[in-house]
Amino acid sequence: SRRYPADALLVAKPPTSLPARKHDVHKGSHGTVGIIGGSRGMTGAALLAGRAALHCGAGKVYLGLVHDALAVDPCQPELMLQPVSALPFEHIDVLAIGPGLGVEDWSRTHLTRVLGMDVPLVIDADGLNLIASDKELKHCLAARKAPTVLTPHPAEAGRLLGCGTASIQSDRLGAAAELVEQYRCSVLLKGSGTICAAPGVPPSINASGNGALASAGQGDVLTGAIAALMAQGLPGLSAAQTAAYAHGAAADAWRRQYAKGTGLTASETLVMMREQLNSN
Ligand code: APR
Ligand code: MG
Repeated sequence: SRRYPADALLVAKPPTSLPARKHDVHKGSHGTVGIIGGSRGMTGAALLAGRAALHCGAGKVYLGLVHDALAVDPCQPELMLQPVSALPFEHIDVLAIGPGLGVEDWSRTHLTRVLGMDVPLVIDADGLNLIASDKELKHCLAARKAPTVLTPHPAEAGRLLGCGTASIQSDRLGAAAELVEQYRCSVLLKGSGTICAAPGVPPSINASGNGALASAGQGDVLTGAIAALMAQGLPGLSAAQTAAYAHGAAADAWRRQYAKGTGLTASETLVMMREQLNSN
């Protein structure tokens, strides 16, 4: 039976403000993000995460592609694309792994290596699916000391907890608390009313966002945004709350302009998210 925290907070305004940029900064002042994902046929997921990280203020973004289908993102040439094994890990401040990662043996190999690194980490999508079905990866995750944020959607959360999606959705606060307890990480449970939770603090429910976000790739954008905010110094939980709020607020702005809320693409969201982050 799950615990039901009575002290959950509703996040109905921007939870944290990024400080305004100082005059004499350089790109190294805003952190270097590495994104690992993009297996065959899923390059776009990694590109979206990388583009979002740039738009959310990361100084530099490396993309480690599992399948090196591309050498450059022609629409975002600022991204530095590399095969995963060629990433300059020593220069990366925050890693995100999962968007389009796949669940092949090599995906697992990359995840094992990254879990063992003393670097803040965001784990999404297939990164979570791999962990859910693998005891050894669970041990690697439990042994981590650096900050770690898990960003499951309800089906991924169900896999992590060994239950069905319906069970997650019937008690979302309880599910988030259970994920925190079992995995000892910061957790962002996606969906309408996204929940952010971490050990020892009351969970929060995000009030921004709407059905316009129900389109492919929106989660990948969120992953890149969280990594970028962590690279700029926000702790994992604050980064998750701030990114979730700005992501939803972008969709709310869209909906104010287009009442039906139809057709918001992830590529548009990441640009609108930048506006949200800059306006508060
Ligand atoms: N209200 C508010 N927010 C919403 C709503 C809604 N009705 N619908 C979706 N969202 C938000 C979620 O909270 C989340 O932040 O949009 C995002 C959707 O993220 P994902 O479910 O991860 O979707 P997606 O980006 O398409 O995932 C890409 O990764 O997780 C895997 O199985 C997934 O293969 C897929 C891939
Ligand atoms: Mg996803």
